[in-house]
Order: sequence, then structure tokens, then C-alpha cells
Amino acid sequence: MDHHWVSRNVSNITISAIKQMAMRSAKVKGAVSLAWGVPSFRTPEPIRRAIAEQLESDPDIGKYALPDGLAELREVVAKEHYDSTGIEVDPDRNVMITAGNMQGLNALLHVVLDPGDEVIVTDPGFASHLQQIRLCGGRPVYWPLDESAGWSLDSERLLSLITERTKAIILVSPSNPTGKIFSERELRRVGEIAQNHGLMIMIDDPYRHFTYENGERYFNLASASELFECVAYLFTFSKSYALSGYRVGYLILPDNLKREVLKVHDATIICTPRVSQVAALAGLTGSRDHLDEFATALGRRRELICERLARVPHVFEFVKPDGAYYVFPTIVAAHRDSMEFSLQLLETAGVAVTPGSAFGPTGEHHVRMAYCVSEEAIVEAFDRIETQYPL
Ligand SMILES: Cc1ncc(COP(=O)(O)O)c(C=O)c1O
Repeated sequence: MDHHWVSRNVSNITISAIKQMAMRSAKVKGAVSLAWGVPSFRTPEPIRRAIAEQLESDPDIGKYALPDGLAELREVVAKEHYDSTGIEVDPDRNVMITAGNMQGLNALLHVVLDPGDEVIVTDPGFASHLQQIRLCGGRPVYWPLDESAGWSLDSERLLSLITERTKAIILVSPSNPTGKIFSERELRRVGEIAQNHGLMIMIDDPYRHFTYENGERYFNLASASELFECVAYLFTFSKSYALSGYRVGYLILPDNLKREVLKVHDATIICTPRVSQVAALAGLTGSRDHLDEFATALGRRRELICERLARVPHVFEFVKPDGAYYVFPTIVAAHRDSMEFSLQLLETAGVAVTPGSAFGPTGEHHVRMAYCVSEEAIVEAFDRIETQYPL
């Protein structure tokens, strides 16, 4: 039936291929999924304990919080931001607690986009950004990454993409889907270009704790004080605190922008669930031993998946990812396109991956594999791939 009441913005988008593959694979008995970047880790015990205690002791736990979040949490976030970037922010004027980076970005995009405005995204880049921009009436503009240079940024190309409709650039480093950590030099150049053209930089940063031996190369562009007025920095507790189901993150903004984002927050979700804010507070104030544990476990999985990919050079060609927990190999086995290849792999081998085309045109003929699943799942997935594609 033709639902004539569905808006153009909504009929123009789809559920991201990541979730489509996850939903398809859930219907295939015994399927192994490398499709969705949900870490296998349980929420750390100190966070679980803090939530349980607060559920019993805090009579307000079931109530709304203020729209920009619990004051205690905003204070701790301001300190956290200072410790990680050296930038001082005011908990009242610059910090918003979000229901995760997707919600934070959605609020920001609502604030900045008029119909037909453009947002520059890396290609490949995070699939859901494309849908979010379209949902807000905007147009994603693809900024192709240079695969031959290990998926690095090409800043001269960026200049040619800026038009009078360009409002913002979204950056993710370590990035999804390539795992690339962009260099300080590349990022500072993007900052300079954005500032010269009056563009906002939205830094979506779920993966900063997952840099393996490349920690020294991670640079947070939010630490460039001269860019403060044009940067919105988004951190999420979903991945490195294993709180993806709680939906909680934070957003650091210049004063005038926080006022605007608050309006969207108030008109849409009112506030981030209080229990999730309690979880985030426990995460930032309690033991952080789990960060090393997660990074160590993911580091082992990264070595494992690279070893296994190296055993199937007739199926995939790959570069070892720098960080996050994705690898983005090129498909070298015979195939028509990445969607057909991924569907066939699921049907015939029971292995779910995400087609690279979901991440932008440059992602075609690649697949994304999320190695945040258990080592057993990685082994099983690759045993099946080797059986499906014998040498
Ligand atoms: C780049 C990027 N942004 C945002 C998200 C979602 O974050 P959240 O759970 O905080 O909404 C993800 C999750 O995969 C991601 O990779």
C-alpha cells in the first residue's frame, strides 16, 4: 500500500545496511555475524553495581533529569574533556548529555540544516550519518578517501567540495568502516579549511580508546583551541564502556550552539534517561581497568582476523586497520557488487558482513567486518569462508 502520508525525508532513507544485515542474519539459523559493531563485552561490574545501588537508594532514579543532563555528570565530563584535550569547558555553558552519539548528531543536524544544505562526509564513512543528514532534509556530499594511501584524507579534494550550501563536515577517527586514524597534520588542515569557510566540524568519536599500538598517532581535533567556536565534539559510552543499550554520550559545544541544541533536545527526548546518566557517571568516576582489558581483547581479535584474512588472498585483499574494531577488505573473489556478495556469503556460508557500498560509493567492492565479536566467532566465520572459497 502506498503510504501517502510518509514524508519525503523519511521515504528517501532506508535502515542502514549494517542493521539490515544484522536483522537478516538473526533469521539464518547458526549464522555468525561480523556485521554489527556491538562489542561482545558485558557492562563492567563496577558500573553494574553502581546502577543496582542507585536503583535502590535514589528515589529520583526513575524521574526526568534536566534537559542538558545531571549536573554532577556534566561536571565530571568537563573534567574528562579537559584531561583528554587540555580544553577547559563550562559544565553549564558547553556540556550536554546525549542519548548516544546518534542522538547527539541528530540534534546537531536539526540545528544546522535547512532543506538542501550540504554536509561533507568521508567516503567511505559511517553509513548512518548519510541517513541522518537526509532525515534532516540535508544532502550528504561524499569526500572520497585515498585507498592507495591507506584511506587517508585528501584535503585539496575537500576544498573542491565546499559550496555555499555546505554547513558542516563530519569526522570519525579512528574511523568506521576503515579503522583509519587520521594524522594530526591532516586533521589540522581540515580544521583550517573549515574555519576559513565558516563550517562546523562534528567530531563523532566512539573509538578513541581503541588505538592498539597506534595510540601516539591519535589526535583529537577538539584539542585545537583556535577551533573551539566551530567544533562540536561527541563522545559515546556505547563502545568503550559497553553501554550501547543504555544510550548515553556527551556533546561539547560552544555556548551559542548549546542553547540551540537544548531546544531540539527538549522538543524530542526531553532528557537522556537518568539511569543511563548514572551508568555514565559510574564509568567516569570508578575504576577504568576495563578500558585496558577491552583494548587488549580487541587487539588479540585484530591480530586474529588479520591472520585469517591473510589466508584467503583469493577472496579478500586488506590493509591492517589502525584502530576502532573494523577491517574493510576489498573483495577479490568473483562478484557483481558488495551487496550481492554479502547476501550470498550469508546464504551459502552463514556469515554476515556489511556490504561496503553502504558506506558510500568508494566502499563498493569492499565489505566491512566488525571484529568486536568473540575469537571463536571470528574463527568460525573464517573456517566457513575457507570452506566456501577453497584455494
Ligand atoms: C561512527 C559512529 N558514530 C556513532 C555510532 C553510534 O553511537 P551511539 O551508540 O552512541 O549512538 C557508531 C556505532 O557504531 C559509530 O560507529
